[in-house]
Amino acid sequence: MTAAPPAVPPVPSDAALLDLARDAATRAYAPYSQFRVGAALLLSDGSVVTGCNAENASYGLAMCAERVAVGRAVADGLLGAGGAGSVPDTTIKVAAVVGLGAAPCFPCGACRQVLHEFGCARVVLEGGAGREGADAADGAATPLSLPFTELLPHAFGPGDL
Ligand code: THU
Repeated sequence: MTAAPPAVPPVPSDAALLDLARDAATRAYAPYSQFRVGAALLLSDGSVVTGCNAENASYGLAMCAERVAVGRAVADGLLGAGGAGSVPDTTIKVAAVVGLGAAPCFPCGACRQVLHEFGCARVVLEGGAGREGADAADGAATPLSLPFTELLPHAFGPGDL
């Protein structure tokens, strides 16, 4: 009798990633802006890492949800080959971002640069009524899926050094 192959976890859909990002946003620490953001990163090894924004009384020190998620993935040893030798050569396949107060919630410029560092291929956002992605008939929010190069064309990255 042959052994059963190892179970491969299903690849989460864009909708499932947005759900995870929305859930992460509920844990945001955003007492100053009240603008709660969540991010869910799907890595090339199939793992998913979430983050939310964390603000500070010194306002400029606010940490964005996307960068919190990236830092978490690096700290967990899931991302960041080229640093410690044992870290796998993974990339970010999809970054899903949800702002509880605004859709779509596009990643800020700094987050785009940090996502690019880890090869982010695609960004998924909630659509919003009256915005790109909105369903004209009922204002329902069809998710937006954007190739990363559309968000940060001509990006500077690790390959440019
Ligand atoms: N924020 C994010 O978490 N991600 C972004 O890409 C845009 C902005 C947060 C930072 C701050 O806590 C709040 O949203 C308002 O700018």
